[in-house]
Formats: sequence, C-alpha cells, structure tokens
Amino acid sequence: MRAPVSDLPLVFSKACVNLGATPLLRDIDLVIAPGAPSLVIGPNGAGKSTLLRLAMGLLAPTSGTVTWGGSRDPAPRRRAILFQRPVMLRRSAQGNVAYALLQAGCARADVVGRAHHLLERVGLAALAHRPARHLSGGEQQRLALARALARDPEILLLDEPTANLDPAATRAVEAIIGEAAASGIKILMTSHDLGQVRRLAGEVHFLVAGRLRESASAAAFFDHPQSPLAQAFLRGDIVAEA
Ligand SMILES: Nc1ncnc2c1ncn2[C@@H]1O[C@H](COP(=O)(O)OP(=O)(O)O)[C@@H](O)[C@H]1O
Ligand SMILES: [Mg+2]
Repeated sequence: MRAPVSDLPLVFSKACVNLGATPLLRDIDLVIAPGAPSLVIGPNGAGKSTLLRLAMGLLAPTSGTVTWGGSRDPAPRRRAILFQRPVMLRRSAQGNVAYALLQAGCARADVVGRAHHLLERVGLAALAHRPARHLSGGEQQRLALARALARDPEILLLDEPTANLDPAATRAVEAIIGEAAASGIKILMTSHDLGQVRRLAGEVHFLVAGRLRESASAAAFFDHPQSPLAQAFLRGDIVAEA
C-alpha cells in the first residue's frame, strides 16, 4: 500500500514575502517537523500572521520556497488554519461542524454522529443547537477548532487563537490545543502571550521585523535566550527593527 500523503515536514527555504517594496518576511529558513507544538512569537507587525499564511499556502513567497512533505503544490492536503476572529456560518453550532465535515468529504450518514463527537471534544455538546453567532467569543473559538478538526488535519495552524479571550476561555482553548497535539496533530501557532507559550510550546521561533532571530526548544529559549533581542523581548522591552 502506498504511504498516505503527508504535509510534513513543512520546509521554508530562504522564503521572502514582499508587499510592493516592503519586505514582510526575509530569508526564512525553517523546518516544521512532527512533534510538540511550534510557537512563533515576536512583536506586533513582525510578520507572524504572514508566516502562517505562507505555511497554509494562502500566500506564495516572493522568492525562495515553501514545501509540504517535499511537494511545492500549495493545495492543502491535511492542514487547517484558524484565525484570531473566526467567521461563523448563520447556522447552529452543530450545523457549522456538519458543514465542515461535508466539505472534508464525510459521508452524509456519518455527519451527525461525527459532529456530535467533535462538539464533545471541544466541550460544546450541550450547545449543539444554539445559533453559532449567539455563542460567546470563547465558545466560538472552540467551535472553530471543532470545524478545523473536522478536516482531520495533520497540521493545525493557529493565529493568536486566544487573543480576544478572557483567561478562563483562554485556558479552555489551550486545553483543546494540548489534546490535539497529544493526539499527534502538529501545531504551528502564533501567540504574544508568553505564559501561553510556556504552557504549550515544544519549540519557539522568534520573529522580529520579518526575520527569524532565534529558534530553540521552549526550555532553552526561556532559560537561555541567545540574542540581545530575545533577551529584551522576554524582559518585556519594546523590540522593533534591528
Ligand atoms: N495586506 C497588507 N497590506 C499592507 N501591509 C500589510 C498587509 N499584511 C501585512 N502587512 C504588514 O506587514 C507586517 C507584518 O504583518 P503581520 O504578518 O500581520 O504581523 P504580526 O502578525 O506579527 O503582527 C506589518 O507591518 C503589517 O502592517
Ligand atoms: Mg498577527
């Protein structure tokens, strides 16, 4: 039997993104391999969201390459992306998940059962029939995670998924992300919440002004940041153009 196609490793080689004359990402060399969550951190405007869009294939590099499992074809095979503010369909919570399942090729006969299972996985089974747009911000983000998981992703890309949430809702979303990672899904996520990075990250990639300044295991990054920029960032200093 042929091995199933894989989107991993995700490899950036000298990847640059320019917007007109403005460089948003410069010479990114990065390998995202199976394992614990990879967290991309850095100040506002560093290029974190742009990096995730590149990783999803929503954006092509201006120069350099991005490959998924050795392929340069950006058509997503087994990856899903979640933005900071999810857009809910004008349907129930269950209807939103059912739609995602059908899009992912789930057989109609299996949709209700699988939607229920996914809503349980994100703690929303009791709200299955509530209009999605009436859910709280945290519930909507959990529903967005259920929709992403409906695609049975190998890589889950998360762009500041808790940026608008209170601490309790944040922890609930982190728990789902942690469980997804434990189930073998590769998490590539941006965050500006260093507490969250400590809780979730296996490795950290530190981006400033479009350049990757430091990549390390989370423990090494927090205990022994190598560059003055990373040291300043961890102290809470303003880190801008280098
Ligand atoms: N579509 C766009 N038009 C103009 N500028 C953009 C656009 N997308 C991103 N940028 C700029 O590119 C830089 C990187 O943005 P972004 O990737 O969103 O950073 P981050 O997510 O780290 O805050 C920022 O200076 C931002 O203003
Ligand atoms: Mg961003």
